[in-house]
Formats: sequence, structure tokens, C-alpha cells
Amino acid sequence: MSTTLAPVDPYSQAQGFATPDLSMAPLLAVEALGVRMGIQQILSDVSLRVPERGVITVLGANGVGKTTLMRTISGVYRASTGRIAFAGEPIERLRPHRIVARGLAQAPEGRQIFSNMSVRENLILGAGRAKSAERRQVLEEVLGRFPVLAERMVQQAGSLSGGEQQMLCIGRALMSRPRLLLLDEPSLGLAPRLVRQIFALILSIRGSGTSILLVEQNVRAALEVADHAYVMESGRIVLAGKAAELRDDRRVKDVYLGGSIH
Ligand SMILES: Nc1ncnc2c1ncn2[C@@H]1O[C@H](COP(=O)(O)OP(=O)(O)OP(=O)(O)O)[C@@H](O)[C@H]1O
Ligand SMILES: [Mg+2]
Repeated sequence: MSTTLAPVDPYSQAQGFATPDLSMAPLLAVEALGVRMGIQQILSDVSLRVPERGVITVLGANGVGKTTLMRTISGVYRASTGRIAFAGEPIERLRPHRIVARGLAQAPEGRQIFSNMSVRENLILGAGRAKSAERRQVLEEVLGRFPVLAERMVQQAGSLSGGEQQMLCIGRALMSRPRLLLLDEPSLGLAPRLVRQIFALILSIRGSGTSILLVEQNVRAALEVADHAYVMESGRIVLAGKAAELRDDRRVKDVYLGGSIH
């Protein structure tokens, strides 16, 4: 990437919007987050907010720290500095399963389904410690959203197509009935028809009341479904604003919507 975006205050442009209102108590608030791995500082001073029922996207070139951010929010990595609050409570010291239990689930980059287990077993894993009656009900809900999985419940997950595996990954995350769903590159490697399906799914999940934090290399589509967007460079947020405004921002157009990235 040749162009560098000038650093900005992430909140300076994130004010005065219609819905959803970022000034309201957010569902997720990441404040001045820093993550170090050995001597490497991977994330520095990252602050972002996800409102209730909002879709927020984090954009950035390969290696800027998007997945690290998602993994730190979901408790897989530990924050070195800063705070992460979910529904008003600090979560940065909690283990991943506790974070899931609070209503924050992740569909990770690279899907990470269990290939040797059946579709059903993978889905059930996502339900955590839910009682069996509730588990049955949520399984029905999820299968209603993914008919393709309903037809393949006994099939080994590893034998699913790429698109089906992605549906399974998202379906597994939805089994915990999250209030916030983290999606890390859900459309990566999928054919255009399936990419459209994934983005339609994102809107439908949001329509049922779940907030979404989305990382996507398909910047154009991400800015279409998102309310707000943050742009990362070298582990920092360098630009933030309403998705519709960033879509027309010359710097975003030059770096992410034109030239080499697309
Ligand atoms: N566990 C780890 N140990 C050491 N370095 C790591 C670890 N995880 C990530 N990194 C480094 O942190 C940086 C950011 O990686 P990350 O995977 O978060 O980027 P990304 O924005 O998700 O990239 P991509 O678009 O390719 O998925 C990279 O330089 C990576 O090598
Ligand atoms: Mg990544």
C-alpha cells in the first residue's frame, strides 16, 4: 500500500449521526487498547464503539492487526493496556467462554470448524452450556437461517464446500444467541454468489437484533452494510466515520476502493 492516511481522532467524525447513535451507551466499547506480542506492539491506542443493533466494520490492509483486535475482544489474546467493556461491564480479563456466555460470539478468520466432527456436533459446540431444551430450540432457529446445513447435519464438516463451511462457522457462533457477533473475513475465498449471500445474511442477522463487528477485505460491500467504519493502519485507527461518508472519502477511495487492493 503506497498511500498513508493521516491520523485523526476516531470520534471527531463519529458524531451527529442519525441511527444508531454512537454517543449512547454502546454495547461494546474498546478504549485505548494496546496489544503486545513479545517485543512487537501489534495494536496501539485502539478505541472503537459498537452500538446496540449496529453494524460496524473495521477496514485495513493485510497485517495491520484486524484479527488481533477481534481475538483480543473475544478473549483469545490478552490486552496489554486499555479497556474493553461489553454491555457496560469490563471483559478484558475474562476467558473466551465467559465472554461467549455474556453474549459476544466470534466467527473467526479461516472458519476453524472441526473437520472430523459432524455439522450437528460443530453447531452444538457453539451452544455452550445451554440446557438441552433451549439447545434444541436455538438449533432449530439457526437451521431455519441455514437450510443448507439442515440437509447435512450428519455430514463431516470437513467435507462441506467452502461456502457451507462459512455458513457453519457463522451458524456455530449464532448458537450462543449472541448480542454481538464478530465476523472476521466471512466472504474470503467465496464465489460472488456466495459473497452476496453472506452480506444478505449479515443484514438479516442485524435485522433480528444482533449487533455485528465486521472485518472484510471486500471493502465496497462492507461499507454498504455497515453504519460506521474504522480504518486501521499499523495497529492504529487512522480514520473513522459514517460508512456512507467513508465510501465517498477520497482517501478511502484511493487506498481501498481503487487501484491494487481491488
Ligand atoms: N500470535 C502472534 N504472535 C506474534 N505476532 C502475531 C501474532 N498474531 C498476529 N501477529 C502479528 O500481528 C500483526 C497483525 O496480524 P493480524 O493477523 O492481526 O492482521 P490482519 O489485519 O488480520 O491481517 P489479514 O488482513 O492478513 O488477516 C502481523 O504482523 C502478525 O504477524
Ligand atoms: Mg486477519
